[in-house]
Amino acid sequence: MIPADLFACPDDGAGLVLSADSLRCPNCGRRFPLHAPNLIEVMPSRPVARQPRGVPERNNYALYLNKFQEPFTWLNAPKPWAPPESLSPRETRRVALQHAIIEECLPSQLGDFCDVSSGSGRHAIPLISRARTAVLCDVSVDALNYVYAKAGQRPNTFFVRCDFLQSPFAAQTFDTMLCTDTLIYGRDHETRLLGHLHTMLRAGGRLACDFKCKWHTHPIRGRYMTDYSWREVCALLEETGFAWHRKVPYYQEATKLPLRLARLVVPPTRYFVLAEKA
Ligand SMILES: C[S@@+](CC[C@H](N)C(=O)[O-])C[C@H]1O[C@@H](n2cnc3c(N)ncnc32)[C@H](O)[C@@H]1O
Ligand SMILES: [Zn+2]
Repeated sequence: MIPADLFACPDDGAGLVLSADSLRCPNCGRRFPLHAPNLIEVMPSRPVARQPRGVPERNNYALYLNKFQEPFTWLNAPKPWAPPESLSPRETRRVALQHAIIEECLPSQLGDFCDVSSGSGRHAIPLISRARTAVLCDVSVDALNYVYAKAGQRPNTFFVRCDFLQSPFAAQTFDTMLCTDTLIYGRDHETRLLGHLHTMLRAGGRLACDFKCKWHTHPIRGRYMTDYSWREVCALLEETGFAWHRKVPYYQEATKLPLRLARLVVPPTRYFVLAEKA
């Protein structure tokens, strides 16, 4: 059964209590439904209001509003973002490289672990065995259905449909948090999300995340992603209370060059960062 003490009401921050088939907020009375013993929906009443600036922010805000409004249903053929079976061999190799960086940078024991935007679970699912408790979150109904079908039968694993901009978790709940391909939606978005991640982590907790590098543009990515210089990444982390320990530049987006050559002649497309709650 889902541990009620992980959660807080996303509308008013009050702790939730377990009651039959839901968690209930004793402050506002809202009930958050358990769709399975280890899958819960803790959505806020309303989406976050943003004034998106520029094309990538507008496109992403529209996607967020669509996903937010979708009702939860059980799906036979869920379509999360970039499931492994949809990737080309080259993309599969890139994801494997990115995963190897994550595996290598994170400690062998993750304690209480949360991936705030797990998507297809391609990075979170292989880490579950290193965690005491693993919590996989996403706002997307498809993503939740997909990861539940892949990893739903493990006793230490919980699935949460939520909005990471309006946190459903109690403060200081996790030792390790993962947030990949997500700090790409606009400066106000990144600041708000990093602020919540900071609150959810225990003192000394680790955040594994990545940022898109400003100096490597790609026409399609440019329509959906906000990118940063390393100096801007440092400012974002510092402003939100993180100290970075490791920075690993890497290539997630397609470059036709072999990686060894790419490293010599073009800037990285991403920075992977391991940061600590300062
Ligand atoms: C580009 S995908 C990355 C998925 C995964 N982290 C990975 O690296 O494969 C971004 C994910 O974030 C989720 N997402 C976007 N906005 C969200 C929000 N406000 N709250 C929770 N999840 C969100 C999307 O539904 C999507 O699954
Ligand atoms: Zn409440």
